[in-house]
Amino acid sequence: MSIKEVVVPDIGNFENVEIIEVMVKPGDSLASDDPIMTVESDKAAMDIPAPFAGTVKELRIKVGDKVSAGSPMLLLDTAAEEKPGPAVAAPVVKSFVPPAAEAAAAVPPPTHPVPEAPATIPPRHRPDPVASHVEFAPGKPAHASPAVRRFARELGIEGEGLNHIRGSGPRGRITREDVQAWVKGELAKPRGEGLGGATGLAVPPAPVIDFSQFGEIDTQPLSRIRKLSGANLHRNWVTAPHVTQFDEADITDLEDFRKSMLEEAAKRGVKLTLLAFLMKAVVNALRAFPQFNASLAAEGENLVLKKYFHVGFACDTPDGLVVPVIRDVNKKDVLDIARELADLSELARERKLKVDAMQGGCFTISSLGGIGGTAFTPIINCPEVAILGVSRAEFKPVWDKAGKVFEPRLMLPLSLSYDHRVIDGADGARFTSHLRAMLSDVRRLLL
Ligand code: COA
Repeated sequence: MSIKEVVVPDIGNFENVEIIEVMVKPGDSLASDDPIMTVESDKAAMDIPAPFAGTVKELRIKVGDKVSAGSPMLLLDTAAEEKPGPAVAAPVVKSFVPPAAEAAAAVPPPTHPVPEAPATIPPRHRPDPVASHVEFAPGKPAHASPAVRRFARELGIEGEGLNHIRGSGPRGRITREDVQAWVKGELAKPRGEGLGGATGLAVPPAPVIDFSQFGEIDTQPLSRIRKLSGANLHRNWVTAPHVTQFDEADITDLEDFRKSMLEEAAKRGVKLTLLAFLMKAVVNALRAFPQFNASLAAEGENLVLKKYFHVGFACDTPDGLVVPVIRDVNKKDVLDIARELADLSELARERKLKVDAMQGGCFTISSLGGIGGTAFTPIINCPEVAILGVSRAEFKPVWDKAGKVFEPRLMLPLSLSYDHRVIDGADGARFTSHLRAMLSDVRRLLL
């Protein structure tokens, strides 16, 4: 038997520091560099490793003791060990709170790299006011045993990652269960708010602001429709890579035709609107470009091409936006479509629209032409792959075909947003060009 006393090595500025954890007990067999205990000063926590291998015969320390360089730690029986370790193993700094500028000088760096402890002397960031969802323990380093640190590293929590976890053990020590619970919580969060949610390319959480500090406010609950459509719009906006193609259609002749039909339509109890003609033009374009009448299959491997033509239209209601769908637009004439548009809009505004009247759409038209604006970028009504925004038509001077004179033409602004995963830019431009051609030639449109 060869018993050696192990004392606390020279640990720089760490004088009279408190032991916060003892990782060994009599009978334990230690390899060189195995951690014996963790001490904590007001600036850092540090593991003190075994200077050589051996079996613990007797402990001279306990949690709460204050130690300095030279304080006895334990007796090690080295008889069974053949190879001695380094004369003095370097202490491992676990975490560190720099007092501003003196940070670098406060703790000596370790004399050699320690593979089990990647987070040596990491200056610990102060809590970021933007990242208020992250649980820091301001001014306190994270305490965790090497076993817990190793476990955390296996789960990908490296270095300062532990500082995000609130410890439930004695003196705020992080336990294995704390790590598990934290990882579970992170996995349950919406994507983008997880590890490092406020940094890198992840979306930072919205700050919570008390607006009343800036002036008088009134807080109103969101309607059920607004909450639902808000969540859907958000999902569609972030999942489908949107491109918006702008164009203008000359609808002078179409508008003349529509006006000439108004009286007859009124006799049949119908208000013949521009939107009805737009529906016909859209279906014609969907036939010419079937990839616009499609949806990505959920597994992302296939494109589902539809052979029916159900077109939705965005309808503004006091409770928010809804999208009723007109079925089989290809089988209906403009008067039928106009009648359905009016009926469905009325039902929507009276909150009487049934759920199935909003399902099965292939493509959506959002018309703001009756209100105003020159262009906008509509959000695709997923799983559809494109949406047509229509703004207010205006008379503009357009060169005649001979290129001799300007003619006043009624120009309709079109804004086509499409899902770039499914539709190429060239096809986007071809689709709006096709729509332009249809809308400027009433005969072709009504054929
Ligand atoms: N350019 C110029 N004027 C237009 C126009 C256009 N593109 N589209 C409609 N108008 C005019 C019409 O001629 C009509 O004028 P009139 O009253 O003198 O006859 C007036 O605007 C109202 O048009 P109307 O045809 O009755 O309605 P509509 O078909 O344009 O719209 C809805 C019907 C349901 C689409 C509409 O009421 C609505 O809710 N629009 C909002 C859609 C929305 O919120 N979209 C945003 C989604 S992001």
